[in-house]
Amino acid sequence: MINKYSNIKLSRDAKEHMYIQLFYAIKEMIEKEILKSNEKLPPIRKLADLLDVNNVTVVKAYDLLEKNKYVYKRVGSGTFVLPQQNFDREIENFEKFEDEIYEDLRLMDRGQIQISDDMINFASATPTPQLFPIDDFKNVLNEVLDRDKGFAFGYQDSKGFYPLRESIVEYLKFYKITTSTDNIQIISGAQQGIDVVAKVLLNYGDTIIVESPTYTGAIASFKTRGTKIVEVPIKKDGIDLEKLELYIKEYKPKAIYTMPNFQNPTGYSHSLIKKKKLLEIAKKNNLIIIEDDYLSDLNFYTDDNFTLKSMDNDENVIYIKSFSKIFMPGLRLGFLVVPLRFKNEIIAAKHTSDISTSSLIQRAFDLYLRKGIWKKHIKYMKKVYKERFDVMIEKLEELPNEISYEKPKGGINFWIDLPNKISVNEFYRDAIKEKIVFVPGSIFYPSKTNSNSLRLSIASVYPEEIKRGMDIFNNLLKKYLDIDKKKYYFENREFYRPIL
Ligand SMILES: Cc1ncc(COP(=O)(O)O)c(C=O)c1O
Repeated sequence: MINKYSNIKLSRDAKEHMYIQLFYAIKEMIEKEILKSNEKLPPIRKLADLLDVNNVTVVKAYDLLEKNKYVYKRVGSGTFVLPQQNFDREIENFEKFEDEIYEDLRLMDRGQIQISDDMINFASATPTPQLFPIDDFKNVLNEVLDRDKGFAFGYQDSKGFYPLRESIVEYLKFYKITTSTDNIQIISGAQQGIDVVAKVLLNYGDTIIVESPTYTGAIASFKTRGTKIVEVPIKKDGIDLEKLELYIKEYKPKAIYTMPNFQNPTGYSHSLIKKKKLLEIAKKNNLIIIEDDYLSDLNFYTDDNFTLKSMDNDENVIYIKSFSKIFMPGLRLGFLVVPLRFKNEIIAAKHTSDISTSSLIQRAFDLYLRKGIWKKHIKYMKKVYKERFDVMIEKLEELPNEISYEKPKGGINFWIDLPNKISVNEFYRDAIKEKIVFVPGSIFYPSKTNSNSLRLSIASVYPEEIKRGMDIFNNLLKKYLDIDKKKYYFENREFYRPIL
């Protein structure tokens, strides 16, 4: 029945790797029951010939299908469609439901979320605007306008306003990072930093290692480079070093992208030992570390929030600093600390991206740093976030026993594992109805692997909302656990109410 597969269209120019496209195509055929339970999939070479792709593409697609429980393999006989739990698919509105969720996930994957005012937002990791230091910033902006007049609106040097680079060197001393103005590259936010670094380091077909799960914006950037993304699981004390060493041997990656402190989405941090070991591994294997420091400042219950850059004696770390979570995301301002051997290429990539970061904002932020106002603000942000963090921990302590999570020591994200019998997507859909929203875990995996986890963030919610929202979350979860999922599903769908 190889004919069934002849409609599959794979594109070499698409953003997704071909094996991912093939995975989705076969997944859809299984879900639409074009392929029946226990039906045998074509032999690898036959399908590869039909689709005019390499055997490896088919092997990888079959592996991914197996990992996601769409197929099973029988040694010596081939790959077969795994009978699916079909009660969902019997429901006439299922496709509509899938579409709704899919649209939400697609939006989240692109960093957006659709939300109404009456919802409690555990999904956004963006600070509430009431926290922004508006008065202080107004003062420095006025001072810059009086001082620099029209110069504040000219193009700025692509590397960044020199005085700002000077004040960043001073600022970094508080974080035990010793560097010079020559190493500093100003960027329009950490996302641009990731993109610029990816452009410089990664060519089509190169491999990068990421933590699994990881930040969606980084996944998107690496995918646009046509890079192979290899995932290494992150554990509660940091990246799995054994797997990392294994994958380095196997895939010969050029770089590793990591968030060593309060990782997004898990909130986990690498232990000091792991941080040091990671630096050693990078040195031994000629691997560049891209360190994304979006949040190390929020260390509530640990003194180990050291950055890799502060211990990087061998100049293998490209450090990316975001000011979005601790100052204001709308500034679109951040910086890189770059080993000198990359600095010219980085300037060129930055120039191609947006010529330069806003001259006005750079000048204002320079004064903000120079005058030391930032210290007061970070202290304030830590206080506000810690209050939210503590309330969230208190509420998480009330989670039913079947639910597991690792208590982070700081940051704004919490990673919750649900038992396998609960579908995160269904739970998500019901939570939305109860006016709370979070992020389903699958979007944080480059391969979009089915995940039974979800991320709760405290950046956009006030303590009272956390309490209220987590009561709703916990009650809904208990319902899911208490009654058989299928029964719950049918009893709670309006379109299944009897008409008599
Ligand atoms: C881990 C991580 N890196 C980078 C960014 C992007 O930050 P910026 O607003 O500085 O571009 C985010 C935003 O949420 C993030 O979570």
